[in-house]
Amino acid sequence: MKVLNFGSLNYDFVYDVDHIVQPGETLDSLNMSTFFGGKGLNQSIALAKAGVAVYHAGLVGEDGQAFYDVCRENGVDSSYIQAIGGKSGHAIIQVNREAQNCIILYGGSNRRMTREFVDQVLEHFEAGDMILLQNEINCLDYIIDRAYEKGMTIILNPSPYDGALDACDLSKVSIFLLNEVEGKQVSGYGEPDRILETMLEKFPESRIVLTLGENGVVYADRDRRLRQGIFRVKAVDTTAAGDTFTGFFVASLVKGLPMEETLRLCSKASAIAVSRKGAAPSIPTMEEVLRTEL
Ligand code: RIB
Repeated sequence: MKVLNFGSLNYDFVYDVDHIVQPGETLDSLNMSTFFGGKGLNQSIALAKAGVAVYHAGLVGEDGQAFYDVCRENGVDSSYIQAIGGKSGHAIIQVNREAQNCIILYGGSNRRMTREFVDQVLEHFEAGDMILLQNEINCLDYIIDRAYEKGMTIILNPSPYDGALDACDLSKVSIFLLNEVEGKQVSGYGEPDRILETMLEKFPESRIVLTLGENGVVYADRDRRLRQGIFRVKAVDTTAAGDTFTGFFVASLVKGLPMEETLRLCSKASAIAVSRKGAAPSIPTMEEVLRTEL
C-alpha cells in the first residue's frame, strides 16, 4: 500500500506583527522570515517525519528547485513533483503576539494542474493505496473522481474551504479532517455535535476528525465518537498545527494504531508544532513526539 499526497507547495513569507493589520492601516512588522510551507507540503513532511513513506505530487514554478531539496532533506519522495514555467505558490502570513495567524495565498503553479498531469501521476497508484488531498490546488474534483475509480482510499482536509469543494463529489471521501470553520461550511451548522451528525447523515460511510482548537478534537464514525483534549504549550505560531495533525493521523492509520492512541499522538505532535516558528520546520519527528513529556 502506497501513500500519495497530491497538494500545494508554498514559500511562506511570515511577518511577526503586534496585531493583524486592519483595513486601511499600514503596519510595521517586528520581524520577517521565510519558511517552506503549503498545506500539501507540510502534510507530506509530517507524514515522513512520522515515519511513513509518502509520494508528494504537485507543481512548482521556475523558482521551485528548493522544494526538491526540502523534500529530500525530510524524506518525502518528490518523483511526482513537476517544474513548470511561472511562479511557485506562496503565502503571506501575519503572526500576532498571541501566536494567531492570518494567511493570504498566491496559488501560482499550485493552481495550474491539468487533467493530463493528474492522470500521469495516478497511473502509478492502484486500488488500496491512500491519497491525501487539501484544497490549495485546482482539479480537485477530477482527482477525487479518478482516485475513486481506481479504488484508492481518499482522505480530504477541505482547507481552505471555497466553492471548488462544492464541485467535488464528497461522498467518495473516506476520511475528512477538518476544523470547526470548515465543518460549518460543509454541514451548514456551527455546533460540533451538529456538524458531525449532519456529515454522518450525508456521508454515512465516512470517518470524520473534527479539530476544535482549544477544545481538542472529536473523532466520529457510524459506530463511535472519541474525544481528545489539547496538550498545553506556550504558543509561538499556530501555522501548520492542523497540517501536523493531519500528517500524523494518516501515518497512524498506515501503522494501524488504535484511534485513541492516534488522537493523542496527533494532538501532541501539533502542540509541539505550535510551540515553534514556521510551517514545515515546526513539525516534529515521531521520535520527538514520543520522548517529549507535555
Ligand atoms: O496550513 C498552513 C499553510 O497554509 C502555510 O504553510 C501556508 O503556505 C498555507 O498554505
